[in-house]
Amino acid sequence: MDKLVIKGGRPLVGRIQVSGAKNATLPVMAATLLTRGRNRLLNVPNLRDVRTMGELLATLGAKVNQRGNKVFIDTSDALGHEAPYDLVKTMRASVVTLGPLVAKAGLARVSLPGGCAIGERPIDQHLKGLEAMGCKIELDDGYVVAKANRLKGADITMDLVTVTGTENLMMAAVLAKGTTVIRNAAREPEVVDLAQALIAAGADITGAGTSTIQVKGVGELRPLDHRVMSDRIEAGTFMVAAGITRGELTLVDAPLEHLTAVVGKLKEAGLRFQNTPKGVMVSARRAPKPVSIITGPYPGFPTDLQAQVMALLTLSNGSSMIQETIFENRMMHVGELRRLGARIELTGSTAVVGGVRRLSGARVMATDLRASACLVLAGLAAEGETHISRVYHLDRGYERIDQKLSAAGAAIRRKKDK
Ligand code: EPZ
Repeated sequence: MDKLVIKGGRPLVGRIQVSGAKNATLPVMAATLLTRGRNRLLNVPNLRDVRTMGELLATLGAKVNQRGNKVFIDTSDALGHEAPYDLVKTMRASVVTLGPLVAKAGLARVSLPGGCAIGERPIDQHLKGLEAMGCKIELDDGYVVAKANRLKGADITMDLVTVTGTENLMMAAVLAKGTTVIRNAAREPEVVDLAQALIAAGADITGAGTSTIQVKGVGELRPLDHRVMSDRIEAGTFMVAAGITRGELTLVDAPLEHLTAVVGKLKEAGLRFQNTPKGVMVSARRAPKPVSIITGPYPGFPTDLQAQVMALLTLSNGSSMIQETIFENRMMHVGELRRLGARIELTGSTAVVGGVRRLSGARVMATDLRASACLVLAGLAAEGETHISRVYHLDRGYERIDQKLSAAGAAIRRKKDK
């Protein structure tokens, strides 16, 4: 296993390219199962999770070929229908193969993802929606077995907002007989990106990005040919990097239109934003001001940036409140931040972050993808050296983050963790 060693206290200055969005790439890759032909995806980030999804599609009989940030997925041959446990357990987003498989092949056998570090993460909403569309669902030996001759359109109201639940049902509805309405749908930009990829291939979808999505079933789809949107979470992570190191970073291809809640809070904390011909320049000259944050479904403050902004606020000149409302156990970075000298009081999923003048480097451990990003950010600001173990979490969702940061002046190196 690798670890990252960071020598903190250096302001980051320079330009960073924002990569394609992991959480748009994964459902769009799964959507190729709705087609029979040669699909082409551009601006795909080179990530562990993308490779895992590629392996999963290959297990199902697709031919997957990733060249740089292009991915070619040939689904011409009849495909299998089983997403095996050993792949699904490493990446719960594999569950988004369920809808496309049962829509195209009439049968899907997908391992239940099981919980993960940040929460139990059930898929009851995915299954409830598929049953409403006439799918027979059984649980067998830890697998969901979904069968349907042909899915039929249904009017579905989700009990709660779920991103991959919305994506699974939208994909299932594309080839169903009749019209499907998904109410209380997730409005995340990644849902819109998936809809755009499907519409370009012949799907009839309206309302993506709103809480009511309508899908009129079509006979078949053409192969996908789609350029994945920029990663708003990666961009937000680098905005915090500029703020926490009191540097000046120009972010190329940052999707500002998808980050209004985040930019609003970072401006409130005193970070400066300037549009330049090369991209948005984010800078800070002094300690951040305290702010209060409550995470929520889009367009609210994204849970995937909660840990990163907490790192910034540990160095604020006051006391901030951060409330996590999406996942029941997404505060594991608090214990690790305390090891770096942060002052944080935690009650359930609400943290009160008392600002300190400085953090001190220490050995810390990444527990999940975004917590590991939080520790990198804190390490960039902490005095002395910070050793972050289990960085495989980081590699799931950030393309070459250590190289991107060191190109902007960070003293960060990857080492074997004995
Ligand atoms: C997506 O996960 C993202 N992953 C997550 O990003 C992100 O944190 C999350 O949406 C929320 O924005 C991908 O898109 C691949 P949910 P998802 O279903 O779809 C509960 C990252 O770091 N729920 O919107 O799995 C669930 O337990 C990852 O990139 C049910 O109860 O999240 C959670 O509390 C982490 N029943 C809440 O809803 C269901 O059937 C929101 O989950 C489905 C969800």
